[in-house]
Amino acid sequence: MNSPTPFKTVGVIGLGYVGWPLCLLAAKKGYRVEGVDIDEQKLQKLREEIKKNRRIHAGKDFARLRDAGGVVFCVPTPVTSKQLPDLEPVKAAATSFAPFLKKGQLVILESTVNPGVTEEILLPILQQGSGLIAGKDFFVAHCPERINPGDTKWNVGNIPRVVGGLNKLSLEKAAAFYRSLIGDKVKPMKSLREAEAVKIVENAFRDINIAFANELAMSFARMGIDVVNVIEGAATKPFSFLAHYPGCGVGGHCIPVDPYYLIDYAKENGFDHDFLSLARKINRSMPKFTVDLVVQGLNEAGLSTRDAKVAVLGLAYKAGIDDDRESPSYEIIKMLKEEYAANVYSFDPFLKQKSIAKNLEDAMAGAHAVVLATPHREFAALSPAYCKKAGTQVLVDGRNFFQKEAFEKAGIIYKGIGR
Ligand SMILES: NC(=O)c1ccc[n+]([C@@H]2O[C@H](COP(=O)([O-])OP(=O)(O)OC[C@H]3O[C@@H](n4cnc5c(N)ncnc54)[C@H](O)[C@@H]3O)[C@@H](O)[C@H]2O)c1
Repeated sequence: MNSPTPFKTVGVIGLGYVGWPLCLLAAKKGYRVEGVDIDEQKLQKLREEIKKNRRIHAGKDFARLRDAGGVVFCVPTPVTSKQLPDLEPVKAAATSFAPFLKKGQLVILESTVNPGVTEEILLPILQQGSGLIAGKDFFVAHCPERINPGDTKWNVGNIPRVVGGLNKLSLEKAAAFYRSLIGDKVKPMKSLREAEAVKIVENAFRDINIAFANELAMSFARMGIDVVNVIEGAATKPFSFLAHYPGCGVGGHCIPVDPYYLIDYAKENGFDHDFLSLARKINRSMPKFTVDLVVQGLNEAGLSTRDAKVAVLGLAYKAGIDDDRESPSYEIIKMLKEEYAANVYSFDPFLKQKSIAKNLEDAMAGAHAVVLATPHREFAALSPAYCKKAGTQVLVDGRNFFQKEAFEKAGIIYKGIGR
């Protein structure tokens, strides 16, 4: 059961993968929603959906957030080219909003950040720009978003949340807001920093486990052991094992990014996260491992990489979505082109405008090697017979998506990640 809404209007800053679903959920729960984004294209894209929902207004004007009881920040938190936290979007959004911050408002940061950011970065900008005192005149909380785009079971409406507050009142107000959205699946944390740490730990946990699976894949590949079968065997243990699988690289705005926030912040505090850094290093090496498989496969087929046609299937970082941030596909493509002079034809049914080939047939026609980089359902149509007819000699299965034996039986050189 959801609790009553503690205020009438909620403001959402940043209308992307996190902010927009929050707008829809808040509207569904009876809030009026004021969405703000600086990206005109994003606003255009959402225009039709906004028109359909009378409770939601969206635009570029931060002044409209004045009347909101709570304002939620959902702006990006990427890393720089040197893998350092880039808090510019958080700072910019706070600077734009601060002059309109009103007494009594609740401000929540949902963006993923390292411990300390809400209090040490966001809060001072808000105080300075508004002349108000945090904890007394306005309230500050952090509630990391856990949304998993493309997930059909878990969404913003049913994923439990953790909340941290600057003080008791901030925590109570924020917890009441989230209870009005998702009922009692809200866990209050002792501090802002604890809540911030929760999210980084969740994603670092995943990065480390994937790195372990990737390391096993690279090791077992040399021993002729199929890592997928081994992981599936280990997963029959009903306790203390959690299956993670290897792949051609870790992408998205979270897993390959968030650990750096902790690594960097810990360094500032005099601690080196060797384990997290090693996991990042292993996962970042997977595109190269994948390209090496292409080269090996082509060599086994008696072909050179120079001028070989290579189809790279999938640009999104995972199946069923159009998000290609930090996607390993681009690194694979770059390496194949620049280091091996291959002719690369990429195709992603969710990212047609960024694909080199017009469609799957176009990508596949005459491709000597095929790299499956994203396990989109649409690629399941690639049967051994189809590939054979298209001229495929080598299949590098970057997601261990296909039946190895079926392709080998058809005379295609199959190379998976650790199988
Ligand atoms: N995408 C996910 O699966 C996911 C899941 C959980 C948490 N997160 C975290 O949530 C945050 C947002 O991620 P996202 O995937 O929604 O990003 P996104 O890029 O999809 O959306 C962010 C939006 O913020 C807007 N924006 C940037 N600067 C702004 C500013 N100064 N003022 C107003 N709007 C601004 C951008 O134009 C963009 O539309 C990140 O911290 C991310 O780590 C993301």
